[in-house]
Amino acid sequence: MNILLTGGAGYIGSHTAVVLVQAGHKIVIYDNFCNSSKPTIDNLESVVKQKVSVVEGDIRNTSLLAQTLKQFSIDAVIHFAGLKAVGESVQEPLNYYENNVQGTLSLLRAMNELCVKNIVFSSSATVYGDPQYLPIDEAHPLAPTNPYGRTKLHIEQILEDQTKADIDFKVVNLRYFNPVGAHASGLLGENPKGTPNNLTPFIARVASGDLQELNIFGNDYPTEDGTGVRDYIHVEDLADGHVAALNFLSHTVGFETFNLGTGNGCSVLQMIVAYKKASGKKIPYRIVSKRPGDIASCYAAPTKANQILKWKAGRTLQEMCESSWAFQQYLKNSHPVSANTQ
Ligand code: NAD
Ligand code: WQD
Repeated sequence: MNILLTGGAGYIGSHTAVVLVQAGHKIVIYDNFCNSSKPTIDNLESVVKQKVSVVEGDIRNTSLLAQTLKQFSIDAVIHFAGLKAVGESVQEPLNYYENNVQGTLSLLRAMNELCVKNIVFSSSATVYGDPQYLPIDEAHPLAPTNPYGRTKLHIEQILEDQTKADIDFKVVNLRYFNPVGAHASGLLGENPKGTPNNLTPFIARVASGDLQELNIFGNDYPTEDGTGVRDYIHVEDLADGHVAALNFLSHTVGFETFNLGTGNGCSVLQMIVAYKKASGKKIPYRIVSKRPGDIASCYAAPTKANQILKWKAGRTLQEMCESSWAFQQYLKNSHPVSANTQ
């Protein structure tokens, strides 16, 4: 199929682009590069050993989107494009609603104009809010606690409403838990601009000496060792989930949601141990106060995806850390001065 990847130059999109090409799909990346960079496309092309079509554009540009859908005879869209920093969304809610929600409406208008009726959406476990039970299944109540999570929930509701208005419109809604790690080639990975908000890119920069120490946000949670527990999933497993979602899309109807996680919880201290083992580096840290809005534990029940998508995350925590470290070293070697030192 001809697949449009909005936000396809980003962390998850670029890894998904690899497996889609390898599965025989033709892909087009549509990205405004507000949180990614052009060298990612070069590295992606090195990995897949072929040129990749790229349109530089904003998802709020409906006419450019329509032109792109037509030019490349797109059959389905995987919608990665969006702003995703929780803290930033609290400071700038209007930017998040405009970019994520309005941007999605623009995309849906363009898809409607061109009769493109298949979409896979990048949602987030953040729509569940503070878990009422664990592991979290798709029936868990939806109660996001920040503007970012609310943009995701609003988009899910828009998509579901559209499937009710148009019986030919089909949605696979993927709720990602905590993606980490990098591509086995060492050429693709997570390289957030500025100081990382998320745990593993921060640890990676401590291991590489770019950052001095990790602040652990609280160690008195009701968890095994007192630190926060999350469901970390290898980004390559996550990418594979999108191929499975596309296959499912071709023989389903309506709106269907799947949790993409491992089903395993891992604490901050356990992640530090794994990263030390993977990198051979010390990871200095200190305990500081809890981060506002943080929850104690969050991990998935991935049963529905396992059974219906015939997909299961198989890569280990050690592989996540080893691939992350390999990419961090690639960054350091290819940008010895500027690597992550913004
Ligand atoms: P990312 O920031 O690396 O990738 C997002 C891409 O979208 C970037 O390349 C960015 O330039 C592009 N983009 C953003 N706004 C755009 C716009 N208006 N027009 C065109 N392009 C735009 O993020 P990611 O980690 O790859 O996440 C991809 C998607 O998955 C996001 O929607 C995110 O909310 C979601 N998600 C991510 C995580 C995570 O922890 N990484 C977890 C759950 C869900
Ligand atoms: C993981 C654990 C922190 C950084 C976020 C978004 C979520 C999704 C994934 C987009 C927590 C602890 C972290 C640090 C720390 N993104 N931590 N020191 O918060 O589970 O989820 O990213 O959809 O929406 O909320 O991930 O990596 O920020 O934190 O102690 O410097 O690591 O307290 O327990 P989180 P995270």
